[in-house]
Amino acid sequence: MVTNRFPTIVGALVVLAAPLATPANGAEGIDAKVQICSSCHGENGVPINAMTPIIWGQQEYFIVKQLHDFKSGDRENPIMAAMAATLTQQDLRPAARYFAGKPWPARTAPVAAVAPPNNIAVCRICHQPNFEGGLPAPRLAGQSYDVLINAMNSFADGRRTNNADMVKLMQERSPEEREAIARYLSSL
Ligand code: HEC
Ligand code: HEC
Repeated sequence: MVTNRFPTIVGALVVLAAPLATPANGAEGIDAKVQICSSCHGENGVPINAMTPIIWGQQEYFIVKQLHDFKSGDRENPIMAAMAATLTQQDLRPAARYFAGKPWPARTAPVAAVAPPNNIAVCRICHQPNFEGGLPAPRLAGQSYDVLINAMNSFADGRRTNNADMVKLMQERSPEEREAIARYLSSL
């Protein structure tokens, strides 16, 4: 059973249920507050460099949780900690909705097809068969290789601990397996 194997997802949903259930009072003026985000995440949804994740068209719940985690320090990144600090708790959901509601940016250059690695069936349980994500897991399809490999290695070596399932899943895989997965997902 998925629910038995991955109890931390349920825990995370319970923790975040309260802020998600409150009305989006911070919605007013959110457009102005998120202007600064485009300087890195891109005016048109294409980030300024390969280390910066695409957030246009990303899953809303995932964005809320990341902003929450950057704020609290559960996910450590100095730049994003400073950025998340410019938003109030009430801003997080409207900000997430703002970006989730945008289209995922189209590819600017064609990418060669990569055969799926044979150990990724489990990933589809949460990230969905097409890797476009869903509640609560993020979209991975088309994210850059650098973002994906950095995220996976960070989970594996303890630099990113804001999801226990992901830490365990990544520790179970070799560096070579993680690279193959990142190559495949970035090609989608
Ligand atoms: C100075 C550049 C910069 C600015 C400005 C910036 N970000 Fe980021 N953002 C990044 C980088 C770099 C990362 C990747 C951090 C990491 O590697 O953990 C990131 C990560 C994120 C993530 C996690 C995405 C994922 O797939 O893991 C979200 C969500 C996010 N930013 C939202 C925002 C929002 C909302 C704003 C505006 C309030 C913003 N960012 C402003 C550089 C920036
Ligand atoms: C039990 C559900 C579940 C399974 C199975 C799962 N993931 Fe995840 N994954 C998540 C969740 C939830 C997150 C967001 C964690 C957080 O809050 O930062 C995530 C985050 C990620 C991220 C970081 C994305 C980003 O932009 O920050 C990557 C990369 C990733 N998963 C890859 C994988 C791969 C590869 C597999 C298969 C080996 C996998 N996941 C299996 C639930 C899952």
